[in-house]
Amino acid sequence: MMPLLRVEGLSVGIRRNRKYLPAVENISFKIMPGEIVGIVGESGCGKSLTALSIPGLLPQGVELTGGGVIFDGRDIRGLSERELCRIRGNEISMVFQEPMTSLNPLLRIGAQIAEPLKLHGWKNRKLIGDEVMDIMNKVGLRSPEKLIHEYPHQLSGGMRQRVMIALAIVCKPKLLIADEPATALDVTIQAQILRLMKRINRDLGTSILFISHDLGVINRICDRVLVMYSGRLVEEGTVRNIFFHPVHEYTRGLMGSIPVRERKGQALVNIPGKVPSIEEKGEAHFAGCPFAPRCVRAEDRCFAAFPKAIPLGENHSVRCILVDPESEMEYVRI
Ligand SMILES: Nc1ncnc2c1ncn2[C@@H]1O[C@H](COP(=O)(O)OP(=O)(O)OP(=O)(O)O)[C@@H](O)[C@H]1O
Ligand SMILES: [Mg+2]
Repeated sequence: MMPLLRVEGLSVGIRRNRKYLPAVENISFKIMPGEIVGIVGESGCGKSLTALSIPGLLPQGVELTGGGVIFDGRDIRGLSERELCRIRGNEISMVFQEPMTSLNPLLRIGAQIAEPLKLHGWKNRKLIGDEVMDIMNKVGLRSPEKLIHEYPHQLSGGMRQRVMIALAIVCKPKLLIADEPATALDVTIQAQILRLMKRINRDLGTSILFISHDLGVINRICDRVLVMYSGRLVEEGTVRNIFFHPVHEYTRGLMGSIPVRERKGQALVNIPGKVPSIEEKGEAHFAGCPFAPRCVRAEDRCFAAFPKAIPLGENHSVRCILVDPESEMEYVRI
């Protein structure tokens, strides 16, 4: 099967004077049709910029400095703004953390959900109306016939997020990018939103790129996980691999920071130190593994160069010079 999305050697820089500060560095990954892939990592590690580069939506002053994105066989870099607009919302769509800022406060919910359809060529009002109702039911918005007349401020946070998801999927995109879609919501609503995403994936076959700083959330929804640290991809694998056999010290630290049922009673492992700022990273001594300054196992060689990916078996690889693939492979054979 052909991957739906191929991100190859993607680098994103933030323009500062005449230089680019590296925010995302040389990351590559694939998403297969129907797959849910998660990106996890601490705040500021480049998750959102990675996501925004896919539909070509990087903010002002932030640019692609290397690599590219192939979506459904098309190189995003080679597309005109017009062609990109045709893809956005129609083939690739996004859901963000804060639904209030992404919804138009002056537009009724019904009109709002109808907008992407109109934008992508739907003309028949009856068909548009039916589709809006259908999608509202699909995302679990009750009494849609009443809700379509309301404004965003009349809805609860959880309902607004459902409206956002309805907007995002109304054109049946092939890829849904969800950037912390449940983070601002309380735990019960968060769980509902995660179940909804899972259902969308199952019923519509939509691939999902799911971003979260919370490994627990990623565990519940994703097939595969990419672990990012300071603009780099440090480990990737199936949720099972990452959860039961994390290899990178950073992934292990992240794992230790979440209370999992099996770990109940054990002390939470915290990672001392903090993510380097992009200004710090622009300096030469950050040529090596960005995690080295915080890593309990770091040796001198870790500071010299960022390591290549070491395959640890099917669907699992890590970028850590200290890893002995032979001994790590043991778990694959067990
Ligand atoms: N528009 C921007 N202008 C300048 N710097 C930016 C911009 N957007 C992001 N950055 C910087 O780029 C780096 C990566 O940011 P990004 O938003 O991708 O992180 P993130 O992993 O999504 O974090 P969070 O979990 O907080 O959302 C950060 O250092 C951030 O400060
Ligand atoms: Mg973000």
